[in-house]
Amino acid sequence: MKCIGVLTSGGDTPGMNAAIRAVFKEGENRGINVMGIYHGYKGLIAGMVRQLTHEDVANVMHKGGTVLRTARSEEFRTPEGFQKALDMLHAFDIEGLIVIGGDGSYRGAKMLSDNGIKTIGIPGTIDNDLGYTDFTIGFDTAVNTITSEIYKIRDTMRAHDRVGVIEVMGRNCGDIALWAGVAGAADIILVPECNLPWEEATHQLVTNKLKGKLTSIVIIAEGAGKAEEFASYVREHSDIEIKAIVPGYIQRGGNPTAFDRVLAARLGQRAVELLDADIGGRAVGIHDNHIVDVSLDEAIARPDNFDQKLYHFNSVLAKF
Ligand code: F6P
Repeated sequence: MKCIGVLTSGGDTPGMNAAIRAVFKEGENRGINVMGIYHGYKGLIAGMVRQLTHEDVANVMHKGGTVLRTARSEEFRTPEGFQKALDMLHAFDIEGLIVIGGDGSYRGAKMLSDNGIKTIGIPGTIDNDLGYTDFTIGFDTAVNTITSEIYKIRDTMRAHDRVGVIEVMGRNCGDIALWAGVAGAADIILVPECNLPWEEATHQLVTNKLKGKLTSIVIIAEGAGKAEEFASYVREHSDIEIKAIVPGYIQRGGNPTAFDRVLAARLGQRAVELLDADIGGRAVGIHDNHIVDVSLDEAIARPDNFDQKLYHFNSVLAKF
């Protein structure tokens, strides 16, 4: 291949820049022009495309967000919008495309792949909700951010003998809640994958209090409900003083961890390698510390691999 494109799509994630940099460098290494497509599929439709240079990827490795910007495009889902995107790829002589994003972005990549554009997906989402890969780029950073938030919140909750319930992102996936919950020694973790009844969770908090543990930390994944709703429920059914905390976008920004940067480098390298071998319609990922690739169909269809064992072990760790 002589010319490939790269875009970031959907929610941004720390480590996207490291992946873009790896794609550019590996492209250059193989004599392939790398075109940067700005603002995701939306920008592709509008022709916001230009060749990347060293300058574009200099000093971005450590930065959160995405230098290519990102978007969620409704127009791309329409037949007219999709056709415009295809025409634009042809107009810029882009033979292969790398899409860095989550499952929604992968669906777009699959459509392009079905229509003759060799496309590779790189998993970029803090949610870690793509079952074919052990980790997605950005997840580790989000978990580390929430973990350090938990300890700050714990300090002030403890000073007041309060319970804190922290709502974390993840759409329908409880991975951020689980990993940050275990790392932050949370007492209760509420995730969509395991429906712990709120009545039971409240009972646990009351039992903790009766035993003398006045401060507890609850992590609730956004897919399992809102922190404020859970706090109201607890207030209604007990005498516990509880505060709801929603860190929000703080967990999606910031410097990527070393793990995310290295993962991004490895996945970016592999994505270009596949295109250079004229292979498309694949998604790259990591499994048992090996870089793997599966068909985009499989990447979209594979159910999330939530770690039930770790989830249940947390109640052992949290015993008081
Ligand atoms: O998919 C990433 C994510 O951050 C989810 O965790 C969250 O539900 C969603 O995006 C928020 O999207 P938006 O950027 O549209 O607020």
